[in-house]
Amino acid sequence: MIIKLSDARINADIELHYSDPSGYDNWIVETLGESNPLHAGLVAALTNYVSPWATVLDLGCGTGWCGKKLQLAQHLGQRIGCDMSLPMLRQADSLGVYGLLYYCDACRVFEELRGLATQVDWALCLLMCCYLDAVSLQELLRELFSSCRQGFIVSFEDYGEDMLICGTVLLYSHTYSDVCAQLAPGWQVEVLAGDVDAVMLLLFTRTD
Ligand SMILES: C[S@@+](CC[C@H](N)C(=O)[O-])C[C@H]1O[C@@H](n2cnc3c(N)ncnc32)[C@H](O)[C@@H]1O
Repeated sequence: MIIKLSDARINADIELHYSDPSGYDNWIVETLGESNPLHAGLVAALTNYVSPWATVLDLGCGTGWCGKKLQLAQHLGQRIGCDMSLPMLRQADSLGVYGLLYYCDACRVFEELRGLATQVDWALCLLMCCYLDAVSLQELLRELFSSCRQGFIVSFEDYGEDMLICGTVLLYSHTYSDVCAQLAPGWQVEVLAGDVDAVMLLLFTRTD
């Protein structure tokens, strides 16, 4: 089910860019096919860290790539997706891998979930941070640190030589320091893929 929020804070340019879900799915098969280490790496991380009954929020869920990975990782709990492209959300909805899908900006969804007293255990934010400027990224990190009960996994895209992680358009690049300078008390960060100078998949977990 797709829920359209009032004050959804949709960026029309991003929605337009993601108006062709089938084209996106073809692109993701080409760039993130089985040979791309992100595929197995993400499933392994989800299997090892995300408990089967965790409530997982997938930010910028697109056509549902992470929802499918959660299924492969034997996740059985509630899955909530959020995206600012309605065509992408419709494609994700057709997979049946999310219980709820919100049409809104990634920060806006936290406000909605707080209002409903929905508690998020884990959040995923894959191939999405390149669309956030520095201020929006800091806002999103604050929401993640305050709302996620167990952890979150975030990719910081770049066009690295190995194409481990990339966005379709790299609007804003963020460094490891940009992100980890903001590490909140009671949290730790681990590099799952890439290295601190380049392409990264980061896992944040609570230590308290
Ligand atoms: C490259 S796709 C990634 C989709 C999915 N996470 C995946 O790994 O296949 C980026 C998605 O993020 C969405 N997006 C970008 N900025 C967003 C924002 N601020 N809030 C919600 N969705 C956003 C786009 O609409 C698009 O569907």
